[in-house]
Amino acid sequence: MTTTDSPEDLLAGLTFPPGFVFGAATAAYQIEGAADEDGRGRSIWDTYSHTPGRTFGGHTGDVACDHYHRYRDDVALMRELGLSAYRFSVSWPRVLPEGAGRVEQRGLDFYRRLVDELLEAGIDPWLTLYHWDLPQALQDRGGWADRDTAARFADYSAVVVDALGDRVRHWSTLNEPMCSSLIGHMAGAHAPGLQDPVAASRAVHHLLLGHGLAAGRLRAAGVESFGITLNFTPMSPATDSPADLDAARRLDGQQNRMFLDPVVSGAYPADVVDDLAAAGAPLPVQDGDLEIIAAPLDWLGVNYYFEQTVRAGARPADKPPTSFIGGENVVELDPEGPTTTMGWGISPRAFTDLLLWLGAKAPGLPLMITENGSAWDDVVDAEGAVHDPERVDFLLRHLAAMTAAIERGADVRGYFAWSLMDNFEWARGYAQRFGLVHVDYDTQRRTVKDSGRVYAEVLRRHREG
Ligand code: NOJ
Repeated sequence: MTTTDSPEDLLAGLTFPPGFVFGAATAAYQIEGAADEDGRGRSIWDTYSHTPGRTFGGHTGDVACDHYHRYRDDVALMRELGLSAYRFSVSWPRVLPEGAGRVEQRGLDFYRRLVDELLEAGIDPWLTLYHWDLPQALQDRGGWADRDTAARFADYSAVVVDALGDRVRHWSTLNEPMCSSLIGHMAGAHAPGLQDPVAASRAVHHLLLGHGLAAGRLRAAGVESFGITLNFTPMSPATDSPADLDAARRLDGQQNRMFLDPVVSGAYPADVVDDLAAAGAPLPVQDGDLEIIAAPLDWLGVNYYFEQTVRAGARPADKPPTSFIGGENVVELDPEGPTTTMGWGISPRAFTDLLLWLGAKAPGLPLMITENGSAWDDVVDAEGAVHDPERVDFLLRHLAAMTAAIERGADVRGYFAWSLMDNFEWARGYAQRFGLVHVDYDTQRRTVKDSGRVYAEVLRRHREG
């Protein structure tokens, strides 16, 4: 593959295994809006986004894409694109406004209506239980830094599977626990906005414990397609010097292996355990926890966006800490070459390598790409079209990279584009657009971008063989 391949060449070169799942993904707080409706409680993201200075332009998820009211139209769009699956998340505070105890039936009813609409459209729902919106009431009692939150998460999972287990087949516990723990509790760049390494390592372990405890409740309810979604940032050392190799090893340990290893092998990596203990933030593991965390998975959800080049040295003072190593000896370098509007580099090759690495780390475990995508400055032109050639290129090259890994033995069963539509990109607000569908936030008008049409064409060719 060369950089001069046209979209048509790239498209023509793509083939996927029979039965391959194609979908798109979203998350509750990023699209639903209706923040004060039907008894919904507050989440840590309501608090965080309403705190001055936390998000770009002071943006919040109060209205977002108004999907809570427009879900029928949005499912119709999914059908138009030809999706066979849709990955979404349930808002914990919509279902349990205080995080535990009283169930809000109107919240559950919304998800039942959404799922029925999907099934009616022939689209398979893939439900995620936790995509970062912890009920504020639980944060007030310590949040993920408190062990009790893991048990509350399991109880919440039981409520949701009891309500939707008859119609949703595919269940996932957490989305990207690395972000909830490290970005939320160490970098302070996501809710709850802490910069506290001890709270961060406690959050890591309690999130994973919550995953394991929820697994037991979902299995007891008969769930047969069960997974967790982890994000992976391949770390590439800037040079082959021992110091740079060590910096990459440590960051890989803390951002990737610390989450993968306990889930698939029942142990935290020894080097990570040592690094955290040395940083004064040991993982609060109790007897029996790792057996719970290593509950068997039916698939591993993989989110991939970019690869990170790392070197040893002092972290620039204006960059928040992203690891337990402190500011002293790991620097995350800015990417060379083109970047998306998020400032992320573009590396389909690292995607292939990642999938092969995962295949070796967890042999026999099917992989689902639960997110992959890119943000660009999209505009609706005078003809009402959105031309997004960069996203088309990113999409096709990453699909090609994935198929290259499949040809070399990676057991990838499906791909969900991030995202179905533009939405609230957390601390970056609405300024970052990841959608296959453009959203005009003034009118809530949806416009399928060129990338959405190309994706629909990929799916059509796959369907029609
Ligand atoms: C991962 C997260 O799961 C999702 O919520 C976010 O919007 C995308 N990455 C893009 O940053």
